Amino acid sequence: METAILSGLDASKALYQSLEERIARLKDQNITPGLAAVLVGNNPASEIYVKNKTKKFEALGLKTDVFRLEESVSEDELLSLILDLNKNADFHGILVQLPLPKHINSEKVLNAIVSTKDVDGFHPENAGLLSIGKPRFIPCTPKGIIFILKHFKIDLTGKHVVVIGRSNIVGRPISILASLKDLGNATVTLCHSGTKDLKYFSKQADVLVAALGSPEFVDASYIKEGACLIDVGINRVEQDGKSKIVGDINQESVSGIASALTPVPKGIGPMTIAMLVENTVLSAELLLN
Ligand code: GUN
Repeated sequence: METAILSGLDASKALYQSLEERIARLKDQNITPGLAAVLVGNNPASEIYVKNKTKKFEALGLKTDVFRLEESVSEDELLSLILDLNKNADFHGILVQLPLPKHINSEKVLNAIVSTKDVDGFHPENAGLLSIGKPRFIPCTPKGIIFILKHFKIDLTGKHVVVIGRSNIVGRPISILASLKDLGNATVTLCHSGTKDLKYFSKQADVLVAALGSPEFVDASYIKEGACLIDVGINRVEQDGKSKIVGDINQESVSGIASALTPVPKGIGPMTIAMLVENTVLSAELLLN
């Protein structure tokens, strides 16, 4: 079987085209959607993620500022920055890049972001709205997964979606999204580190979402022929003395068995960034209504 490669670059391009008009309409009213990105410490991966996100905002003529804080910053100082950003009308979205240093309570920090600027969709109010089927800001990676599937005309209705990983960032929200009538209408199984006989479940998947953060964990023995595979992993590994990025799926192993596969890189990564832009534009629009 030929495995179709679902390019996140192609799908995100389509989204950016549809955003141009929305951004122009906002600019006609003297509104430039703005994102405040908060980066704490010197985590190299976080530095790259934030750079990629802000680069895209700049390329689209949107406002973006990075607020850098030392690794040793106190929780109170970080909270005080967030309260300032909550009140700053230049920013329609606030993103605190995770993970935060261990001495900071991430939950407390994320909850301090006013829910109307929570473009990551991590605030309990937005998570709650999603879980009752009335989403406002949907977390960017799950939203990007739904978008890329729609873009490539892969319908989830009645399919069995199996998710591996239950994080609040990807696994849990994608399991909710895929189950909602309007967005996925799929039957969903959420697997995690406590799941017994993972292969029993993963082999039943029509669509398998690998979001466990373990390099090339899923190989051919975990899937059924013709499955559509969504690889959320971004893992840096050393191979032959060189550093490279691999996903949670062993792409070589599943090639020719899966019907479709998102590559790493250039798969779900660009979709996450595109959805952050979309959520920030949405936030600016909601303010007008
Ligand atoms: N760290 C890993 N993924 C994400 C994300 O989507 N948003 C933020 N803020 N931090 C992350």
